[in-house]
Amino acid sequence: MSHDAITSHLKETRRFEPPADFAKSARIPTREAYDAMYKESVESPETFWRRETADLVLRTPWTTTLEWKLPHAKWFQGATLNITESCLDRHLMTATRNKAAIIWEGELGATKTLTYAQLHRETVLLADALRKHGIVKGDRVAIYMGMVPEVAVAMLACARLGAVHTVIFGGFAADAIRDRIHDCQAKIVITQDGGYRRGSVLGLKEAVDKALAQPQAASVQKTIVLQHLGHDRCPVKMTEGRDLWWHEIVGESLGESREATVCEAEDPLFILYTSGSTGKPKGVLHTTLGYLAGVHVTSKYVFDLRESDVYWCTADVGWVTGHSYIVYGPLSNGATCLMYEGAPNFPDWGRFWRLIEKHGVTTLYTAPTAIRAFMRQGDEWPKKSDLSSLRLLGSVGEPINPEAWMWYREQIGGNRCPIVDTWWQTETGSILMTTVPGAAASKPGSTGLPMFGVVADVVKKDGTPVGAGEGGMLILKQPWPSMLRTLWNDDERFMKSYFSDVPGVYFTGDGARRDEDGYYWVVGRIDDVLNVAGHRIGTAEIESALVSHPSVAEAAAVGRPDDLKGQALVVFVSLRPGVKSGPDLVTALGEHVAKEIGKFARPDAIRFTDSLPKTRSGKIMRRLLKDVAAGRASTGDTSTLEDLSVLAKLRADED
Ligand code: PRX
Repeated sequence: MSHDAITSHLKETRRFEPPADFAKSARIPTREAYDAMYKESVESPETFWRRETADLVLRTPWTTTLEWKLPHAKWFQGATLNITESCLDRHLMTATRNKAAIIWEGELGATKTLTYAQLHRETVLLADALRKHGIVKGDRVAIYMGMVPEVAVAMLACARLGAVHTVIFGGFAADAIRDRIHDCQAKIVITQDGGYRRGSVLGLKEAVDKALAQPQAASVQKTIVLQHLGHDRCPVKMTEGRDLWWHEIVGESLGESREATVCEAEDPLFILYTSGSTGKPKGVLHTTLGYLAGVHVTSKYVFDLRESDVYWCTADVGWVTGHSYIVYGPLSNGATCLMYEGAPNFPDWGRFWRLIEKHGVTTLYTAPTAIRAFMRQGDEWPKKSDLSSLRLLGSVGEPINPEAWMWYREQIGGNRCPIVDTWWQTETGSILMTTVPGAAASKPGSTGLPMFGVVADVVKKDGTPVGAGEGGMLILKQPWPSMLRTLWNDDERFMKSYFSDVPGVYFTGDGARRDEDGYYWVVGRIDDVLNVAGHRIGTAEIESALVSHPSVAEAAAVGRPDDLKGQALVVFVSLRPGVKSGPDLVTALGEHVAKEIGKFARPDAIRFTDSLPKTRSGKIMRRLLKDVAAGRASTGDTSTLEDLSVLAKLRADED
């Protein structure tokens, strides 16, 4: 987020009370009602969670609400369930059966709707096929697909068997796919021939082929390929004995296969890889009932979901927002979700608004980067469509600057829709802070108040709380049901990453302040993780991608404030002896990062330097590089800098 935005945060005094019309029929209609629920969730979690999960399908109820042995939480032990019975089967007995679960719109305008009954059927059929191909409870299945309804089917089919899915965002390149497969030893990869992005074809199966050609991906025995574009538009090479067409292996008869595998509350549900401040991506592990409880309750109350809503979360299913608020949360509530395959600006900047008008979308959940991009295109685009069906707006993924918040409210929400700015992380599983619409007033740029069961604070490094309005580290003091349970294969890193910066509590990696009203204002990451256009990128991953290039000796990645993307990715590179810098190398290094990680991680700027500023102990001084990248004078302490001339040189290069 830009410095201007932070400054405007600090000056922000606007406050919008819940619109009376909205509050009148809201699920939580007053601040008093919210406060009472919050108090109960913290003081009597057992009563709270039993009541709030009463509509979920459990085969057996739980006996122990929480067992907490830092850093390991176990929620709802004794309960058994299959999560898909809460998301699908339970709706088959009601009128929801024939209601649209997913309304899909392809980038080129094709549409497809799956009712709850159809989604259930597709899920059960694919689960049966997976079972026949050897998948049993606990196996890992990688999913590398675009935004098509079948990606939800694939996830749910894994869950139906108690298999652990790991969805790999469709923007990741072959090497990143390989690394994730290797880390979790996936047995099957589910993919599709290709998808559309800005009118061109993206070969997804092709990327999987490249990943599987490498020895590190040897755990994969089979791939299942959805034919989405068809042979004419996206021919694929099928490897005999390994690759199977989805439509060929999915049978017609449900027969015995309808049965879901019974899981324990703490059985793994999915692994989702995300970036940390050091090293390779972390395999965040979520388990079954705690995760379900978190996403079920937050979907219901934060989005005030009801029967008649058409809810649209624009996130990609490859990120946690898609998992929790396209798939598990909305489906467990029987909601109708819109899913859109393509880019927001294809064929033009009016696409989102036409989609809202066409499908009568009531609830839009999107990211500040998108809002800022739309804002920049001018008010005429949203004005061309009728947006009066909207009743609630949401924001997620990065701090939203008040200017963008106000534009969202006025131009999209017609000054009538409440905005929920939701703060959470891959690790938290579900929304942990927001202003529940109808109950709590919102303030532009603030993520509001803790959700049920969440006990947060802003502290100094030694754990002492800071005063109201002061900046500090955002921590969570008590476990919550949908928290990550560990990092796959790396419990030690789990402890170190989250519970060691501030002893005894979970440190989020974010900086924040809390105002006199108890509202939180998240400033952004204060560790070495960047948030570029809502994409979470670890500086260490970028650096290791760069140094794997034969020209590069050393690299340091930092964020630079950017009005559109929140942060832009700037890298400083020193070259191996004899290598000459120049525009060709800039292009080559950009391509290299795109190949190693994905196009979304391509640096915005590459700067060459003879050496990087380091402390005497050899640590790269990122703080100084951030200042250089932002064109600011360094205010911090440079006394440990090994060679001050390096800094002077970097600045001189700017001119
Ligand atoms: O820095 C915070 C920012 O996104 C980080 C989590 O990223 P990820 O795991 O990719 O999950 C994103 C979607 C939940 C956080 O540590 N972040 C997320 N939501 C907000 C936010 N920053 C400010 N305001 C938000 N609403």
